[in-house]
Amino acid sequence: MTNITFTEKTPNLLIVATGNPGKLQEMQAYLADINLQLQLKPQHLEIEETGETFLANARLKASEVAKATGEWAIADDSGLAVEALDGRPGIYSARYAPTVAEQIERVLTELGDNPHRRAKFVCAITIARPDGTIALEAEGTCHGEILHSPRGNAGFGYDPIFYLPRENKTFAEMPPESKHSFSHRGQAFQILLPQMKKLWYD
Ligand code: IMP
Repeated sequence: MTNITFTEKTPNLLIVATGNPGKLQEMQAYLADINLQLQLKPQHLEIEETGETFLANARLKASEVAKATGEWAIADDSGLAVEALDGRPGIYSARYAPTVAEQIERVLTELGDNPHRRAKFVCAITIARPDGTIALEAEGTCHGEILHSPRGNAGFGYDPIFYLPRENKTFAEMPPESKHSFSHRGQAFQILLPQMKKLWYD
């Protein structure tokens, strides 16, 4: 049995810097090992994503939410970076077109017949202390290729065009457990979890 020491700095509440209950649920699954209550940020609190990198945006969101609530906060920022498009859509992934179908269409049109189709998903996660200072952060990546047309119905966002050659599947053709084990978000949490345990329970 492992001995867990609870110190004064050990929080029991962590505010998730998102208004999206789906994201909270997904974080809950990744953090199942840690005895923490997760809560959505207050609805009125809107944070503009003005950073130029995934990490900068994650820092901004975690820090602002922590300061506004006086609690520990966690934020993530993620997106798709296509090599032949100089890293686009990148931090603009969620805003690349009005609908997800149009976002996918725009990436496919911009790539056209270009044979160079390497891309990566990136996810930055940051945890801020109640005073807004950054306590922990991690970045996870998942490398793949952009198909010429969508395949599969699972997942969300750019999943149907993001293909993993070693699995011979797109993210949208995988069950959630497989996607989570390969994904940028899964990789970032794998780095972050031991750091969280060390920070709060050592
Ligand atoms: P965020 O919620 O501001 O981090 O925006 C992330 C955006 O990047 C999403 O709206 C998607 O367009 C894209 N994205 C991030 N992660 C994934 C993924 O796992 N699959 C598909 N699209 C993703």
